[in-house]
Amino acid sequence: MNSQEIRKKAEHINWQDFSKMEEKDKIVFLNNSHTNNPFHVLFAQQFNRTSLNLLCQIAERARDINKNKKEGVDFLKSLLHGAKALNFFYQPSSRTFLSFSAAQGTLGMDIQNIRDPSTSSKTKGETLEDSVRTFSSYEDLIIMRHPDERAVEKGAWVLNKSDRRIPIINAGSGKDQHPTQALTDIYTLYKSFDGKIDNRTIVMCGDLKRGRTVRSLSYLMKNYHDMKLIFVSPPHLRMGEDIKYFLQGHSIPYWEANNLKETVPSADAIYMTRIQDEWDEGDNQDKKIPRPVDPKYKFKKEYLKLMQKDAVLMHPLPKRDEIDEEVGYSKDKRVVFWRQERNGMWIRVALIAVIFQIVEVFFKYTTWPENWRKGG
Ligand code: NCD
Repeated sequence: MNSQEIRKKAEHINWQDFSKMEEKDKIVFLNNSHTNNPFHVLFAQQFNRTSLNLLCQIAERARDINKNKKEGVDFLKSLLHGAKALNFFYQPSSRTFLSFSAAQGTLGMDIQNIRDPSTSSKTKGETLEDSVRTFSSYEDLIIMRHPDERAVEKGAWVLNKSDRRIPIINAGSGKDQHPTQALTDIYTLYKSFDGKIDNRTIVMCGDLKRGRTVRSLSYLMKNYHDMKLIFVSPPHLRMGEDIKYFLQGHSIPYWEANNLKETVPSADAIYMTRIQDEWDEGDNQDKKIPRPVDPKYKFKKEYLKLMQKDAVLMHPLPKRDEIDEEVGYSKDKRVVFWRQERNGMWIRVALIAVIFQIVEVFFKYTTWPENWRKGG
């Protein structure tokens, strides 16, 4: 199908039919038909090795340009000057919200936020579809986090029918996916392993059933060679069958283990996650006090000694007691989760640049080392 045929088909497809399609068949309605890079970003399966590499390279270039404080910062700000972004967050968020706002500011966008659904027309009975259609009258980009797994997808479906077809990015869809966190994680692996992500063993530990970050990251593994996954979780919070089926289909070996300690020596990356008890039903919900994590799924300080010398310890954050507190304060270079947070801002700069098709400018820009500042 050419781009016009895709547009036509997207205008006529109803929600029932669209939502029932397999993810791989939806991609044509979400990605840019010329570049095959995502336009709407709903799920991790939309990214291929080329687009992931491109994103990491743009993030690196943007960081370098930003160090040129005399002109680089202004140059970045000029790229999307005047374009408008709406951050529409129906669930709590610190990192994702702030890193998206910071990324939008870096590119010179005007930023609007809706963080409290009670302040939107939803309280007057407006449907999500109408809200999204309304946002598209004022905005050029929507970032959306929602507890309903299909809400962002519905937004993309509505926008595909609209005369103002603006992009929408999933900033966390219920228990299902968090694709931009997975991009953050890939960029962190890219930086930690000198751009060489193939042939790695990744341990994912914690709530793998309801953790959307580990689900999205697992999907991205299809883009790398010889990856191995080790899933460590309490028995009732194991990785979902849909992800296991996907991994089997892509010949990615995985194992399930019941004790983090045993897996640490074999890992290139250890990816810790929080128990997502906001989804629990019953008494714990009312008390709102997190249960202490079972020590079998906790990264203890002494495990740093068991880690390989080039391995990394990651966490999408927020963290609780699943990592010994001192580990967060340690100066051990392998503890990368604070850097991971910062990477999240730069990879979002790159993602927005790709969506708005302003890729070449990052590679054409020449920097003057004498104006560079440290950090980045
Ligand atoms: C995660 C999320 O919201 O899914 N946080 C984030 O975006 N970095 C992880 C979590 O809440 O545990």
